[in-house]
Amino acid sequence: MKPVSRLQALAALAAVAAAALLAYQQPAMSFVPEESKAASSPETKVARGRYLVTIAGCNDCHTPWKMGAAGPEPDMSRMLSGHPENMALPPAPKLPEGPWIVTAAATNTAWSGPWGVSYTANLTPDPETGLGKWSLQNFVDTIRTGRHLGRGRPILPPMPIPMYKNFTDQDLEAIYAYLQSIPVVRNQVPEPLPPAQ
Ligand code: HEC
Repeated sequence: MKPVSRLQALAALAAVAAAALLAYQQPAMSFVPEESKAASSPETKVARGRYLVTIAGCNDCHTPWKMGAAGPEPDMSRMLSGHPENMALPPAPKLPEGPWIVTAAATNTAWSGPWGVSYTANLTPDPETGLGKWSLQNFVDTIRTGRHLGRGRPILPPMPIPMYKNFTDQDLEAIYAYLQSIPVVRNQVPEPLPPAQ
Protein backbone atom coordinates (compact mmCIF):
# COMPACT_ATOMS: atom_id res chain seq x y z
CA MET A 1 0.00 0.00 0.00
CA LYS A 2 1.31 3.49 -0.90
CA PRO A 3 1.46 5.98 1.97
CA VAL A 4 -1.32 8.13 0.44
CA SER A 5 -3.77 5.30 0.03
CA ARG A 6 -3.04 4.10 3.56
CA LEU A 7 -3.91 7.58 4.82
CA GLN A 8 -7.11 7.51 2.78
CA ALA A 9 -7.97 4.12 4.23
CA LEU A 10 -7.39 5.42 7.75
CA ALA A 11 -9.58 8.46 7.07
CA ALA A 12 -12.33 6.23 5.74
CA LEU A 13 -12.05 4.03 8.84
CA ALA A 14 -12.26 7.07 11.10
CA ALA A 15 -15.38 8.25 9.25
CA VAL A 16 -17.04 4.86 9.72
CA ALA A 17 -16.13 4.86 13.40
CA ALA A 18 -17.51 8.38 13.86
CA ALA A 19 -20.75 7.43 12.08
CA ALA A 20 -21.10 4.34 14.26
CA LEU A 21 -20.50 6.40 17.38
CA LEU A 22 -23.12 8.94 16.30
CA ALA A 23 -25.63 6.22 15.46
CA TYR A 24 -24.96 4.71 18.89
CA GLN A 25 -25.24 8.00 20.77
CA GLN A 26 -28.27 9.43 19.03
CA PRO A 27 -30.92 7.02 20.34
CA ALA A 28 -29.40 7.32 23.82
CA MET A 29 -29.59 11.11 23.68
CA SER A 30 -33.22 11.16 22.59
CA PHE A 31 -34.08 8.32 25.03
CA VAL A 32 -33.41 10.35 28.19
CA PRO A 33 -36.04 13.10 27.78
CA GLU A 34 -38.48 10.45 26.45
CA GLU A 35 -38.01 8.43 29.63
CA SER A 36 -38.50 11.28 32.08
CA LYS A 37 -41.58 12.46 30.17
CA ALA A 38 -42.97 8.90 30.28
CA ALA A 39 -42.31 8.50 34.01
CA SER A 40 -44.71 11.33 34.83
CA SER A 41 -47.80 9.63 33.32
CA PRO A 42 -49.62 7.37 35.81
CA GLU A 43 -50.20 4.50 33.30
CA THR A 44 -46.54 4.44 32.35
CA LYS A 45 -45.53 4.51 36.01
CA VAL A 46 -47.68 1.44 36.71
CA ALA A 47 -46.30 -0.33 33.61
CA ARG A 48 -42.74 0.45 34.66
CA GLY A 49 -43.57 -0.83 38.18
CA ARG A 50 -44.97 -4.07 36.77
CA TYR A 51 -41.78 -4.51 34.76
CA LEU A 52 -39.53 -3.87 37.78
CA VAL A 53 -41.55 -6.20 40.04
CA THR A 54 -41.36 -8.90 37.36
CA ILE A 55 -37.62 -8.75 36.79
CA ALA A 56 -36.68 -8.09 40.42
CA GLY A 57 -38.30 -11.44 41.29
CA CYS A 58 -40.86 -10.24 43.86
CA ASN A 59 -43.19 -13.04 42.68
CA ASP A 60 -40.52 -15.65 43.47
CA CYS A 61 -41.16 -15.13 47.17
CA HIS A 62 -44.37 -13.11 47.57
CA THR A 63 -46.58 -15.24 45.26
CA PRO A 64 -47.21 -18.75 46.61
CA TRP A 65 -45.89 -21.45 44.30
CA LYS A 66 -47.98 -24.46 43.25
CA MET A 67 -47.17 -27.58 41.29
CA GLY A 68 -47.91 -27.06 37.59
CA ALA A 69 -47.68 -29.38 34.58
CA ALA A 70 -44.05 -28.39 34.00
CA GLY A 71 -43.04 -28.25 37.68
CA PRO A 72 -43.46 -25.59 40.38
CA GLU A 73 -44.83 -22.21 39.22
CA PRO A 74 -46.17 -19.08 40.94
CA ASP A 75 -49.93 -19.28 41.52
CA MET A 76 -50.92 -16.00 39.84
CA SER A 77 -54.50 -16.26 41.14
CA ARG A 78 -52.88 -15.34 44.49
CA MET A 79 -50.38 -12.91 42.99
CA LEU A 80 -48.12 -11.19 45.56
CA SER A 81 -50.45 -12.07 48.45
CA GLY A 82 -47.66 -13.54 50.59
CA HIS A 83 -47.56 -16.68 52.69
CA PRO A 84 -51.08 -18.26 52.64
CA GLU A 85 -52.79 -17.84 56.03
CA ASN A 86 -54.60 -21.19 55.73
CA MET A 87 -51.52 -23.27 54.96
CA ALA A 88 -50.93 -25.70 57.81
CA LEU A 89 -47.18 -25.91 58.38
CA PRO A 90 -45.56 -28.35 60.79
CA PRO A 91 -42.78 -26.85 62.95
CA ALA A 92 -39.67 -26.02 60.90
CA PRO A 93 -37.12 -28.85 60.78
CA LYS A 94 -33.88 -28.62 62.72
CA LEU A 95 -31.44 -26.18 61.11
CA PRO A 96 -29.47 -27.95 58.41
CA GLU A 97 -25.80 -28.73 58.91
CA GLY A 98 -23.48 -25.95 57.66
CA PRO A 99 -22.71 -24.73 55.13
CA TRP A 100 -26.40 -25.48 54.39
CA ILE A 101 -28.35 -22.75 56.13
CA VAL A 102 -32.05 -22.38 55.15
CA THR A 103 -35.13 -24.50 54.63
CA ALA A 104 -37.97 -23.19 52.47
CA ALA A 105 -41.60 -24.32 52.25
CA ALA A 106 -42.85 -25.65 48.90
CA THR A 107 -44.77 -22.39 48.35
CA ASN A 108 -41.46 -20.46 48.60
CA THR A 109 -43.27 -18.16 51.05
CA ALA A 110 -41.96 -19.46 54.42
CA TRP A 111 -38.32 -19.69 55.34
CA SER A 112 -36.49 -21.13 58.32
CA GLY A 113 -32.92 -20.05 59.06
CA PRO A 114 -30.73 -18.79 61.89
CA TRP A 115 -33.07 -15.75 62.20
CA GLY A 116 -36.09 -17.96 62.97
CA VAL A 117 -39.02 -18.40 60.60
CA SER A 118 -40.08 -15.62 58.22
CA TYR A 119 -43.18 -15.47 56.04
CA THR A 120 -43.42 -13.29 52.94
CA ALA A 121 -45.70 -10.28 53.28
CA ASN A 122 -48.99 -9.59 51.48
CA LEU A 123 -48.09 -6.84 48.97
CA THR A 124 -51.62 -6.48 47.52
CA PRO A 125 -53.60 -3.29 48.35
CA ASP A 126 -55.85 -4.99 50.95
CA PRO A 127 -56.18 -2.34 53.70
CA GLU A 128 -56.17 -4.80 56.62
CA THR A 129 -53.77 -7.56 55.54
CA GLY A 130 -51.75 -5.93 52.72
CA LEU A 131 -50.25 -2.56 51.82
CA GLY A 132 -53.60 -0.79 51.25
CA LYS A 133 -52.99 1.76 54.01
CA TRP A 134 -49.34 2.34 53.15
CA SER A 135 -48.30 5.71 51.74
CA LEU A 136 -45.51 5.95 49.19
CA GLN A 137 -43.34 7.28 52.05
CA ASN A 138 -44.10 4.18 54.19
CA PHE A 139 -42.99 1.96 51.30
CA VAL A 140 -39.83 3.94 50.52
CA ASP A 141 -38.86 4.11 54.23
CA THR A 142 -39.32 0.34 54.63
CA ILE A 143 -37.12 -0.53 51.64
CA ARG A 144 -34.46 2.11 52.39
CA THR A 145 -34.05 1.34 56.11
CA GLY A 146 -34.90 -2.39 56.13
CA ARG A 147 -37.36 -1.75 58.96
CA HIS A 148 -41.15 -2.10 58.93
CA LEU A 149 -42.45 1.39 57.98
CA GLY A 150 -38.93 2.72 58.50
CA ARG A 151 -39.07 2.51 62.30
CA GLY A 152 -40.49 -0.90 63.33
CA ARG A 153 -38.77 -4.26 63.57
CA PRO A 154 -36.01 -5.19 61.10
CA ILE A 155 -37.18 -6.93 57.93
CA LEU A 156 -35.84 -10.49 58.06
CA PRO A 157 -34.11 -12.55 55.37
CA PRO A 158 -34.47 -13.58 52.69
CA MET A 159 -36.08 -10.22 51.72
CA PRO A 160 -33.24 -8.75 49.59
CA ILE A 161 -33.13 -5.36 51.37
CA PRO A 162 -29.33 -4.99 50.86
CA MET A 163 -29.93 -4.93 47.08
CA TYR A 164 -33.35 -3.28 46.94
CA LYS A 165 -32.32 -0.27 49.01
CA ASN A 166 -30.36 0.76 45.91
CA PHE A 167 -33.52 1.24 43.81
CA THR A 168 -33.82 4.86 42.68
CA ASP A 169 -36.65 7.00 44.09
CA GLN A 170 -38.29 6.86 40.66
CA ASP A 171 -38.16 3.05 40.60
CA LEU A 172 -39.62 2.75 44.11
CA GLU A 173 -42.39 5.17 43.13
CA ALA A 174 -43.20 3.00 40.08
CA ILE A 175 -43.14 -0.24 42.12
CA TYR A 176 -45.43 1.32 44.74
CA ALA A 177 -47.85 2.58 42.04
CA TYR A 178 -48.00 -0.90 40.49
CA LEU A 179 -48.48 -2.69 43.84
CA GLN A 180 -51.37 -0.35 44.69
CA SER A 181 -52.99 -1.22 41.32
CA ILE A 182 -53.03 -5.04 41.54
CA PRO A 183 -56.02 -7.20 42.61
CA VAL A 184 -56.71 -7.19 46.35
CA VAL A 185 -56.19 -10.51 48.12
CA ARG A 186 -57.25 -10.70 51.74
CA ASN A 187 -54.60 -12.86 53.41
CA GLN A 188 -53.30 -12.38 56.95
CA VAL A 189 -49.65 -13.44 56.94
CA PRO A 190 -48.43 -14.79 60.32
CA GLU A 191 -45.83 -12.93 62.41
CA PRO A 192 -42.29 -14.33 62.19
CA LEU A 193 -41.09 -16.83 64.79
CA PRO A 194 -37.90 -16.32 66.82
CA PRO A 195 -35.05 -18.83 66.43
CA ALA A 196 -35.64 -22.14 68.21
CA GLN A 197 -33.77 -22.45 71.53
C1 HEC B 1 -35.97 -13.98 48.32
C2 HEC B 1 -37.33 -13.74 48.76
C3 HEC B 1 -37.93 -12.35 48.58
C4 HEC B 1 -37.94 -11.57 47.45
C5 HEC B 1 -37.31 -11.85 46.11
C6 HEC B 1 -38.70 -10.39 47.79
N1 HEC B 1 -39.12 -10.45 49.08
FE1 HEC B 1 -40.15 -8.99 50.07
N2 HEC B 1 -40.07 -10.11 51.78
C7 HEC B 1 -39.58 -11.39 51.89
C8 HEC B 1 -39.80 -11.88 53.23
C9 HEC B 1 -39.43 -13.25 53.77
C10 HEC B 1 -40.44 -10.84 53.94
C11 HEC B 1 -40.90 -10.85 55.42
C12 HEC B 1 -39.74 -10.50 56.30
C13 HEC B 1 -40.15 -10.29 57.74
O1 HEC B 1 -41.24 -10.68 58.15
O2 HEC B 1 -39.35 -9.68 58.46
C14 HEC B 1 -40.57 -9.73 53.00
C15 HEC B 1 -41.09 -8.50 53.34
C16 HEC B 1 -41.34 -7.47 52.44
C17 HEC B 1 -41.89 -6.18 52.79
C18 HEC B 1 -42.16 -5.68 54.23
C19 HEC B 1 -43.58 -5.75 54.62
C20 HEC B 1 -43.80 -5.19 56.00
O3 HEC B 1 -44.94 -5.31 56.47
O4 HEC B 1 -42.90 -4.64 56.62
C21 HEC B 1 -42.05 -5.48 51.64
C22 HEC B 1 -42.63 -4.09 51.48
C23 HEC B 1 -41.59 -6.32 50.55
N3 HEC B 1 -41.13 -7.53 51.08
C24 HEC B 1 -41.59 -5.96 49.23
C25 HEC B 1 -40.94 -6.70 48.23
C26 HEC B 1 -40.81 -6.25 46.86
C27 HEC B 1 -41.43 -4.98 46.30
C28 HEC B 1 -40.05 -7.18 46.20
C29 HEC B 1 -39.54 -7.14 44.80
C30 HEC B 1 -38.93 -5.90 44.34
C31 HEC B 1 -39.73 -8.23 47.18
N4 HEC B 1 -40.29 -7.89 48.37
C32 HEC B 1 -38.97 -9.36 46.89
C33 HEC B 1 -38.95 -12.10 50.88
C34 HEC B 1 -38.70 -11.65 49.60
